[in-house]
Amino acid sequence: MKIAIASDHAGFEMKTFIIDYLKQKNFEVLDLGTNSETSVNYPDYGHKMAANILAHKADLGILICGTGIGISIAANRHKGIRAAVLYSDEVAEMTKRHNNANVIVFGGRTMARSDIIKRIEIFLNTPFEGGRHQERIELLDK
Ligand code: RB5
Repeated sequence: MKIAIASDHAGFEMKTFIIDYLKQKNFEVLDLGTNSETSVNYPDYGHKMAANILAHKADLGILICGTGIGISIAANRHKGIRAAVLYSDEVAEMTKRHNNANVIVFGGRTMARSDIIKRIEIFLNTPFEGGRHQERIELLDK
């Protein structure tokens, strides 16, 4: 499975930590930046992630900004993107079961490393339920 990852400066340190975890678990990682803590604009990275997911360059995207909010708003401007901030373990599960998110989002300044890893694992290990939920996610793009 190939996972694309991007952040702004506020998520850079957490991005580095998540990349180390993903590589340890043998995921293929596509790092879309940013590459330092120098201030950048989070919409650029949300848009870049959306373009890569829509072009099938990765199976899943992970985005990080300070809160997870700004960068998720940017990604969700793109038809076909379902970016969700995983703000609890229960949400990590339901976001996969019902929404089949193609981008998961975290707050580098608002979430603990251990919670982020736990939520990535929950999301990856939960199945999408399909059926009426497939119909609903199709309605998002109509
Ligand atoms: C950057 O300071 C911060 O505004 C950004 O990372 C994010 O939290 C925006 O939603």
